[in-house]
Amino acid sequence: MLRLGVLASGRGSNFQAIIDAIGSGRLNAKIELLIVDKANAYAVQRANKHSIDHVFINPKDFSSKDDFFIAIRDELQKRGVELVILAGFMRVVQKPFIDAYANRIMNIHPALLPSFPGLHGQRQAVEHGVKISGCTVHFVDEGMDTGPIIIQAAVPVCSEDTEESLAARILLQEHRIYPEAIRLYSEGRLKVEGRKVIISSPTDEGCCIINPLLG
Ligand code: GRF
Repeated sequence: MLRLGVLASGRGSNFQAIIDAIGSGRLNAKIELLIVDKANAYAVQRANKHSIDHVFINPKDFSSKDDFFIAIRDELQKRGVELVILAGFMRVVQKPFIDAYANRIMNIHPALLPSFPGLHGQRQAVEHGVKISGCTVHFVDEGMDTGPIIIQAAVPVCSEDTEESLAARILLQEHRIYPEAIRLYSEGRLKVEGRKVIISSPTDEGCCIINPLLG
């Protein structure tokens, strides 16, 4: 069974979606550990409710970003974590951590990358006036939301949309595609070739945008 480690900073609704996917049997994995960088992250309450171990690692206890991420890496390795899930983790991960988990760290971003990377992807989409936005699950590299793309889902953007209304529409899709990406990984179906993530058969589901507009 795939051993997961989840990193979160706040609400943790994507963390919850993964817990639920495991609970319903859609995802064959075990969450070994939740790591938070904020003591009061709501994700901790979710972990407690589901008897998942959690650790608070305080960035203020470290003199450098690298040292902070080395502590995270060590904690994950101690628990035998095979795949790391960034679920609303509000920090740019550093090289010592990425090197230890190359192509084994996933992130979800609330926009159709490479559009609108960084903070406030939904606000950027509304302000830019795009008609379609969405979310992206990708492997993490050293850039800001630049790693190889695994799955995307598209949602319409309406002229009345605010950042909040668009964020809510996108979030529904986040909760659908993040467990799905982890499932594909757990089945050994993701292969990274340069910038591309090749999703192997039995179906061609990864070859196109998984688009709710198309059903
Ligand atoms: C999500 O919108 C995700 O795309 C972004 O941060 C937010 C986290 O939400 N990376 P939650 O903590 O999972 O509810």
